[in-house]
Amino acid sequence: MPKYYIITYGCQMNKSDSEKVAGILENLGYTPSEKMEEADIILLNTCSVRERAEEKVFGKLGELRKLKKRNQNLLIGIFGCMAQRMKEELIEKFPHVDFVLGSYKFTELPKILESLDGKKKVVLAEDIPSPQDVDFRVIKRENKFQAWIPIIYGCNNFCTYCIVPYLRGREKSRDPEEIIREVEYLASQGVVEVTLLGQNVDSYGKDLGNVDLADLLVEIHRIPGIKRIRFLTSHPRDVSDKLIRVVATHPKVCPHWHLPLQAGSDRILRRMGRGYTYSEYKALIEKIRAEIPKASFSTDIIVGFPGEEEEDFLATRRALEEIKFDTVNLAIYSKRPGTPAANYEDPIPYETKKRWFDELENLQRKIIYEKNLSMVGKEEIVLAEEVNPKNPRELSGRTENYRLVFFEAEKELIGKFLLVKITEARLWSLKGEVIREVDL
Ligand code: SAH
Ligand code: SF4
Ligand code: F3S
Repeated sequence: MPKYYIITYGCQMNKSDSEKVAGILENLGYTPSEKMEEADIILLNTCSVRERAEEKVFGKLGELRKLKKRNQNLLIGIFGCMAQRMKEELIEKFPHVDFVLGSYKFTELPKILESLDGKKKVVLAEDIPSPQDVDFRVIKRENKFQAWIPIIYGCNNFCTYCIVPYLRGREKSRDPEEIIREVEYLASQGVVEVTLLGQNVDSYGKDLGNVDLADLLVEIHRIPGIKRIRFLTSHPRDVSDKLIRVVATHPKVCPHWHLPLQAGSDRILRRMGRGYTYSEYKALIEKIRAEIPKASFSTDIIVGFPGEEEEDFLATRRALEEIKFDTVNLAIYSKRPGTPAANYEDPIPYETKKRWFDELENLQRKIIYEKNLSMVGKEEIVLAEEVNPKNPRELSGRTENYRLVFFEAEKELIGKFLLVKITEARLWSLKGEVIREVDL
C-alpha cells in the first residue's frame, strides 16, 4: 500500500482542501504515513498571502530535495495558492517536484497519478476552474466531532493588498441543499460542531439569489446532533441585520465573529479598498454587542500598508484600545506581485513597521490578559478537543466565544461538552476545572 503525507500551510480553506485530498488518496488505496520520510507521495498545500508563507514552502522544498535523491520513486506534488501563482516556475526552480496543481485542480489527482510515469512533469494551473464538490463521504476529516465546511469559494473584493482573488477566482456559493445533506451526514457520523467557511462567508448566496448565510444557519440549526455552529470570515460590509438577529436568537450558533478590520485609519482603509470607515466598523461592533452581549470578536490587522504614517498607526492603536478584540492577528504588510498596492510608494522603513507591530502586539497582550482575568470564576461550556501536548493529564478545548481553556480530564472526554469553571487567566489561554459533562 503506498503511503501519503500532506503538509498544509495557510488558511482554514486550505485545511479543508487537504482533508479532501487525503480522502481522494485513500479512495485510491493510499494510507497515511506517520513520518514524512516514509511516504511514497508528499504533497504541499501552499499559501501565497504573504512572502513569509511562501518562504516556508521554499524551505520545505529544499529539505525534500534530499529525500528525493535517496528515493527516486518518491512523488512530490504542490497544490494550493502558490501552485496557482507560480505554475511551471515551481518545477523550473525545483526540478524534484513532479506535479503542480492550481486552485481547485486537486480533484484531478486520480488522473494525474495514473498518467505520471516517473519522468513526466505535470502542471495544471492555467485557468482557475469552477470549484467542484468532492463527495462528502470521501473527505478524510481531521477529527471525528468537528468539521470544516466550505460554503463559498473565492472572493470578489480585490482589496488592494491581497492576492487571494487572483488565485481563488470569483465568489461561488455551494448549493444549500448539498450543504444541508453534508451536515446531516456529518451529524449521523457523530460530528457535533461545524464551522462554515468562506473568504467572505457573509457573501454566501449572493450569486444564487434566493438564500443567504442567515437562512443557512437557521437550516443547520434544525439538524439534531449538531450542537455548535461557527462561521468565518465575515466582511464588515456584508454583515446584515438579519444575520445578527439569527446569531442572537439561535443558541447553537456561537456568538464569535471574525471581522477583519485591517486598519483604524480611514485614509488607509480607503487605499486598501475595504469599503467601510472606522466609525462604520465600530458602529457594527456596537450593534452586534447590543443584540448579543456575550459576542466576542477577532480581527486581522495589517501593519505598515504603503503610505501609512505615524498618525495612521495611532488610529489603529486607538481602534484596538476602543474595541478590545479577543484575538488580533497582526501582520506586517507584504508586497504581493500583481496587486495594485504593489505599485504604491512604500517609503516607511521596515524598522518603523516593526516598532508599530511590536507596540500593537504589546497593547493586545494587555487587553487580552485583562479580558482573561475577567473570566476567572465564570462557568463556561467547553468542547474538549485534544490532549495538551505539553501536559498529558490536561485536555484543551474552546468556549462558545472561542477562548482556549486547559483543564485536567481523562482522554475519554474528548469530543464531549463539559461545564468548566475558569480558575486562572494566562496570557493566551485560560485554565479551568471540570464541573461535569453536559448534555446539550
Ligand atoms: N477574506 C479574509 C481573509 C483573507 S487573507 C478577509 O477579508 O479578511 C487573511 C488575512 O491576511 C487578511 O485579513 C489580511 O489581514 C492578511 N493579508 C492579506 N494580504 C496581505 C498582505 N499583502 N500583507 C499582509 N497581510 C495580508
Ligand atoms: Fe483578500 Fe479582501 Fe478578499 Fe479578504 S476580502 S480575501 S482581504 S481581497
Ligand atoms: Fe493563503 Fe490562499 Fe488561504 S493565499 S490565506 S491559502 S486563500
